[in-house]
Amino acid sequence: MSPMLSLQQKCREDEKIAMLTCYDASFASRLESAGIDAILVGDSLGMVVQGQPTTLPVSLSDMAYHTAAVARATRNTLIIADLPFGSYQASPGQAFDAAARLMASGAHCVKLEGGELMADTVHFLTSRGIPVCGHLGLLPQSVFTSGGYGIQAKTTAAAERLIDDALLLEQAGASMVVLEAIPAALARQTTERIKIPTIGIGAGNECDGQVLVLYDMLGITPGKTPRFVRNFMDGASSIQQAIEHYIAAVKDGSFPAHQHSYLKPVA
Ligand code: KIV
Repeated sequence: MSPMLSLQQKCREDEKIAMLTCYDASFASRLESAGIDAILVGDSLGMVVQGQPTTLPVSLSDMAYHTAAVARATRNTLIIADLPFGSYQASPGQAFDAAARLMASGAHCVKLEGGELMADTVHFLTSRGIPVCGHLGLLPQSVFTSGGYGIQAKTTAAAERLIDDALLLEQAGASMVVLEAIPAALARQTTERIKIPTIGIGAGNECDGQVLVLYDMLGITPGKTPRFVRNFMDGASSIQQAIEHYIAAVKDGSFPAHQHSYLKPVA
């Protein structure tokens, strides 16, 4: 079974999906041996690997390089690679060329940010054989127009728009959708409305799965980490054990706990 089909099967069987970001071969091999369900080669590498202030400077070549490193170290783990800023927004054809490069580097699926505006592009890619993961809520590539990294979709109108966007992505053929920094209640409603898996980050524990930035959950990231991060090195005797604790906590629903979620009800 393909890695994507086996992940969707787990979701249908109500098994939570544990995903982490990863950008290199050494960590990828640790993640696979710990039993991670999916690896996201995220453009967060711009910040945590390259020291950039945002994800915007990350290039398609950067993403291809890190995707290939992860792919060389794994055998059967689903690899999702981010389409970086500027590589897909101009047209579906531009998105196809960029996605094809990441698939040739070893990705099984590409992730892109946005809802309605991206639906045609998602349809274009999926109808040409490229699985797509959507990304709604906090969109780091739009941080200069959305006004920052805080919680999103706080009003009723914005919450309804997010659910509509999720439905449009599903209709366009997306295989799953990441929900970032939204109220837990809205993430639950979205998960109930669509059939494809929802993967939360700062979206409460009623999504179908969870993702964190690897360096955040290992406590490596300097400075203040967001509310939704838990340092899994606390109480672990090795990196391998911290990763195993993360997977177990996602699977048994103990992560994220209340203190990692935005519980404000939808207005
Ligand atoms: O790039 C990334 O790490 C991401 C996660 C925050 C979901 O997109």
